[in-house]
Amino acid sequence: MKKPLPKGKSMTPNQLRQKYLDFFEKQGHAIVPSAALVPENDPTTLFTGSGMQPMIQYLLGEEHPKGTRIADSQKCFRSQDIEEVGDNRHTTFFEMLGNWSLGDYFKEEQLGWFFAFLTEELGIDPQKLYVTAYEGNEAIGVPKDTETPEIWKKLFASVGTSAEVIDDAAKNGLQGGRIFYYGDGNWWSRAGAPSTMPAGEPGGPDSEVFYDFGAEKKLHENNEFKDVPCHVNCDCGRFLEIGNSVFMQYQKQPDGTFTELAQKNVDFGGGFERILAVLGNTQDVFETGLFTPIISQIETLSGKKYGSDSETNRSFRVIADHIKAATMLATDGVYPSNKEQGYFSRRLLRRAIRFGKMIGIEKPFIADVATAVAQMYEEAYPQVTENLVRIQAAFKAEEQKFQKALATGLREIEKVTEITGETAFYLYETYGFPFELTQEIAAEKGITISVASFQAAKTAHADASRQASSAKFKGGLADHSEKTTQYHTATHLLHAALRKILGEHVQQKGSNITEKRLRFDFSHPAALTTEEKTAVEAQVNEWIAADLPMTVKIMDKEEALKSGAIAFFIEKYPDEVTVYTIGNDPETDWISKEFCGGPHVNSTGEISPIELFKEQSASAGVRRVYLRSKPTN
Ligand code: ALA
Repeated sequence: MKKPLPKGKSMTPNQLRQKYLDFFEKQGHAIVPSAALVPENDPTTLFTGSGMQPMIQYLLGEEHPKGTRIADSQKCFRSQDIEEVGDNRHTTFFEMLGNWSLGDYFKEEQLGWFFAFLTEELGIDPQKLYVTAYEGNEAIGVPKDTETPEIWKKLFASVGTSAEVIDDAAKNGLQGGRIFYYGDGNWWSRAGAPSTMPAGEPGGPDSEVFYDFGAEKKLHENNEFKDVPCHVNCDCGRFLEIGNSVFMQYQKQPDGTFTELAQKNVDFGGGFERILAVLGNTQDVFETGLFTPIISQIETLSGKKYGSDSETNRSFRVIADHIKAATMLATDGVYPSNKEQGYFSRRLLRRAIRFGKMIGIEKPFIADVATAVAQMYEEAYPQVTENLVRIQAAFKAEEQKFQKALATGLREIEKVTEITGETAFYLYETYGFPFELTQEIAAEKGITISVASFQAAKTAHADASRQASSAKFKGGLADHSEKTTQYHTATHLLHAALRKILGEHVQQKGSNITEKRLRFDFSHPAALTTEEKTAVEAQVNEWIAADLPMTVKIMDKEEALKSGAIAFFIEKYPDEVTVYTIGNDPETDWISKEFCGGPHVNSTGEISPIELFKEQSASAGVRRVYLRSKPTN
């Protein structure tokens, strides 16, 4: 026998989840487990972002094996909310309490049950509840929903609560009402408003329930809401949406019209974390049992207190949400990488690490936080604990990789005077900085970088690489005259000099040689200073003056790489490669060793001294220099 559950404040997450499922089981619902965060057989979306997503085919008419009344608590991840995290209610991972009527009950039962669940089962004061309805949309032939306000009026009357219906709350505020009509904000589909839905998509009018924390709790002072008349959807913080009943009965047609589905469905989604916050009488979901174990762990790690100031709070919330989300994603098979879902995991973890630094966490910590997440979900999602060892190993490896990249990358950002789309692309390519991270670092310096500029840099880079590779296969040479052969060997000297003076991150990105000059593109984040240019030029000339011999050897590719040879496009080379080495001893005393097709001079003394006469940007994080022989007179 189940123990009776406590009401109100003392409710734990597990108790609330169970209470909801028990309640709907009593109303004839089959309880199903949460589907995975990565949808099966649904290529339209990367993640499960709402409770109805795994139900879509049943809402469209397919028979559900468990019947026409289904309920669950569904794990959800909304990648589009990553940057919203930091306030008191946004999270990327959350659970949605859900119940569905698949052509079974409709408005009357749905609204009545949810109201009873809130007021009777959870003991929430009906005076604090406010609701909404759809005012209709003539353009798509969907009429005003007049039944919903009638049902709500009866429900509120049954508990002695007055409930006026108000038409224009968005403009004129609450006006003493409790039931409010809104436009397409009260229409729900996976794709949003009717106009943005693709053909075939189901949707319908909805009715939301809001909890009122009280007029004194609104955040109107000094913010964008100070001149807005308060209403449930004004987002000032006074009201919190805790549940939404969608009457999913329409489907968009290819010609843009809407027709009725064969069955009238209910799709209900309740905010698990938010209802828990209401029960704990806090507007802050991070103060609920779904976050407090993580928050106290972050307090220990950082030596800072949650609640001390808004910046500290923001860091705590980002860390807590992101590591929790990445842990839940990993449980469902999504590990940090550069591809698709994995990229979001990487972004979450790297963002958490960076915010950790802001509150003074210097040691690796994300694997430890994953342990707290596993403990918290032990009962509801034991798979987290089952996978914990693997998750921790992956998190540790990711943290190590990023710590290194972060240190170097942040130093480089400090050096550059302006952060552009090119810088962002360079950091992305070289250090695995997610674009959004560079964007945020730039924003902290008051600089805006657009996605478009990053994309442009990426495209330019791809073009440059394509050009470079086609040039490479021609040997990058216009002809084999004596002069171009000299310049060709000079590119090797230049490459080596750049790596010696600027650092090993320098990589050839392309080259082009004519009788008159050599042009050389290479990865580097910033323009060369006068000193750097002078030093590069002097180094090349020093090696020319030393008359170093060139040796050529056919080698096994792996062996060549082990011996320190550098390659332009490693994957493009066959297993046997030709390696050109410049130096007195090709094994022990050399300055340049490169995969190359030749031809080259026999020793560097054959090259005339050079001058570096031009330096410019080539593309994203790629610089271009021009060298030519110094005039002899
Ligand atoms: N599917 C509805 C929502 O996500 C319940 O709000």
